[in-house]
Amino acid sequence: MEKKRQFFTTPIYYVNAKPHLGHAYTSIAADVATRYKQMDNQETYFLTGTDEHGDKIVQAADDQNTSPKAYADQISQLFQDLLPLLQIKNDQFIRTTDPDHIGVVTAILTKIHDSGDIYFASYEGLYCFGCERFYQERELVEGKCPDHGVAPEKIKESNYFFKMSKYQEWLIDHINTHENFIQPAQYKNEILSFLKEPLEDLCISRPKTRLTWGITLPFDPDYVTYVWFDALVNYVSALGYPDGDKFKRFWPTTRHFVAKDIIKPHGIYWPIMLKAAGLDIYEGLNVHGFWNVKGSKMSKSIGNVTDPIEVTKEFGVDPFRYFLMREMVFGLDANFTEDAIVSRINADLANDLGNLFSRILSMNTRYFEGKIMGQDAALAAQFSLEANAINAIDGFKEAMERCQFHKGLASIWAFISTMNKYIDTNEPWSLAKDPSKESALGTVLYNLVEGVRVVSCLIYPVMPATSRKMQLALGLEIPAKGFFDLDQILPWAQIKKGVSLDKPEILFPRIDIKERASNASPQKAVVKKKKSFKPALKEEISIEDFSKIDLRAATILSAEKIETSSKLLKLVVDIGAQTRQVIAGIGKSYTPQDLVGKQVIVVANLKEARIMGELSQGMVLAASHKKELILSGFEKDLLPGNPVK
Ligand code: MSP
Repeated sequence: MEKKRQFFTTPIYYVNAKPHLGHAYTSIAADVATRYKQMDNQETYFLTGTDEHGDKIVQAADDQNTSPKAYADQISQLFQDLLPLLQIKNDQFIRTTDPDHIGVVTAILTKIHDSGDIYFASYEGLYCFGCERFYQERELVEGKCPDHGVAPEKIKESNYFFKMSKYQEWLIDHINTHENFIQPAQYKNEILSFLKEPLEDLCISRPKTRLTWGITLPFDPDYVTYVWFDALVNYVSALGYPDGDKFKRFWPTTRHFVAKDIIKPHGIYWPIMLKAAGLDIYEGLNVHGFWNVKGSKMSKSIGNVTDPIEVTKEFGVDPFRYFLMREMVFGLDANFTEDAIVSRINADLANDLGNLFSRILSMNTRYFEGKIMGQDAALAAQFSLEANAINAIDGFKEAMERCQFHKGLASIWAFISTMNKYIDTNEPWSLAKDPSKESALGTVLYNLVEGVRVVSCLIYPVMPATSRKMQLALGLEIPAKGFFDLDQILPWAQIKKGVSLDKPEILFPRIDIKERASNASPQKAVVKKKKSFKPALKEEISIEDFSKIDLRAATILSAEKIETSSKLLKLVVDIGAQTRQVIAGIGKSYTPQDLVGKQVIVVANLKEARIMGELSQGMVLAASHKKELILSGFEKDLLPGNPVK
């Protein structure tokens, strides 16, 4: 019989920043799902890669004074190097700058254009440069982009549009008739509720006058392809669409793993693109939540990223994978803290599993010199753990089929906890004191050894190295492919009577919390602080010198542009006793509308000066950040004139 097939993908990650724990999570989740399907005797293919076109990459390369391609090469390599470090066994790594990929994007665009689903039109809309897309008024939050928190700019352009609206009813019907198309259900509902409103056609081009770093449209050399239209196609270009063998084998048996930030492109644009291009629709989308740090999404722009390499160096790869899969309820957000990972390692791994394993093998060594006694037929039923093992396997399978990794692991750990209780109830140490109980003791230990054999098989997708370590210690003949299939775990009682087992090495060393706290050094912290800024400090001044500066809270009453300058704004500020006119060079970072009503800090006793012919009676304080100026302010509204010390 032909094997069932399954194709798994991660998002292709932008190369505007190096990989962090959030990226590692999605890739590990897809790896766990792939390994699980392999245990289910399916043929799998696992793709990940990097998304290398678009504004974001150009900006990141600019910041580093390098070319987009050189920059992409460098960061893409970091994503590639991370995979083996996390025990991720991908079959392919795709880059959107690969010539084959570019060829497929071109072919698909041509196909959709020829079929009449792409048209040219002039469009005026609200464009967020951070997201590289137009926004509808209703999608904004208080007039601002929900992701970047800045007001999008109104721009007018002629562009190419993809007739998504034509496929809206079809998509709704597809989602409703394909039970697992988007899972978990809350995300399916989110997409369906978005589709209750009329779907806008998608602008799929960017004029080269604005962006050149992209794939040229086959039907207009003055435009490049919108980054999502390019990126999504990776899932079929990687397989060698249209004639490649892999494409024929694995498309459309595809499950895409993504976080909730990108469900719209995956749940709406992508199926419609496939439909319009005459391709089969992928099987489904598995959507997870965000890893947060102190309540905010871990992301480069917030500066709270955790480097997965640092975490694995500190805690080990298997514990890291276990923590990620156990801590996050797939679909919901989770918090990353060092305390959480330490307590999972100590409680679940060192204590529950590690201790259990070493207790069992140590008792077997102590009481039987390591020899497996096997079970006494007359006592087998009384001491059997088989039913508990079957429960664990069933619970694991049911959860893993639905990507509920946390539940799958919980099912194994319920069995581990049963075994720990079983030891306490049956007291092997008491049985050992009574020679007439030798076969009872042998039977108890045999059931426990069998129990941890089952556990060693089930943990494979999440902790492959630990699974192997346990199986070697149990003297099992590990199949050449490196794991036991699900249907090889049972029957019960596979370990042969008479084999000799050694005392095992410790699976997971306990982390000494006190010692960690006393050794804590800034270098050890795995949640990265924002890079600090280290220009030389100015010469020391006395408190008297400082107190000569009269700093005041000031409210901006009006603001206008100085027409002859691109960056100067004329502000009128209330400093309590007086109003002042201040000329500030913040026009590239703030619009006049942004400023009226804002509270800032003003140097109130600065000698008057003329700037571009305008009188300036003070100075507002601001910090420069990259190419922007960020105004200083207060956490609470103050009365204008309030001194600042
Ligand atoms: N390039 C696009 C995807 C194109 S796919 C055809 C992109 N790239 S990204 O680098 O921003 O990656 C987003 C993905 O990274 C998320 O969907 C998720 O898989 C992962 N994560 C990034 N930050 C994350 C968290 N804080 N938490 C969980 N996952 C995170 O979007």
